[in-house]
Amino acid sequence: MITLHFIQSRADGSTVDHAVPGKPGDTLMHAAAVAGLDGIAADCGGLMTCATCHVYVREPWAAALKPPEGEELGFLDFVAAERRPNSRLSCQITLAESLDGLTVDLPATQY
Ligand code: FES
Repeated sequence: MITLHFIQSRADGSTVDHAVPGKPGDTLMHAAAVAGLDGIAADCGGLMTCATCHVYVREPWAAALKPPEGEELGFLDFVAAERRPNSRLSCQITLAESLDGLTVDLPATQY
């Protein structure tokens, strides 16, 4: 198991670090769903048709991941919150031992 960090910003400017276990081979979205994490809707269950699993990947993790391509790049146009250079669909990030400590910020909304 590895540990993943989902950072949620609050209205008062503070942040909460939700530490979630992840299993190599699973997706980041699946780890969030198993943990019952608010902030990742994942309406399509990972079929890449909803864009409600949006996250912002922090460095150095963003650079360590294979960049988005193809359908993911296209679907990033449909995220509800601001799209940034480090925007990813969490259902397209496959976990590995090397991603222990992966940290992402949750967008303000998925809708
Ligand atoms: S879960 Fe629907 S696009 Fe990722």
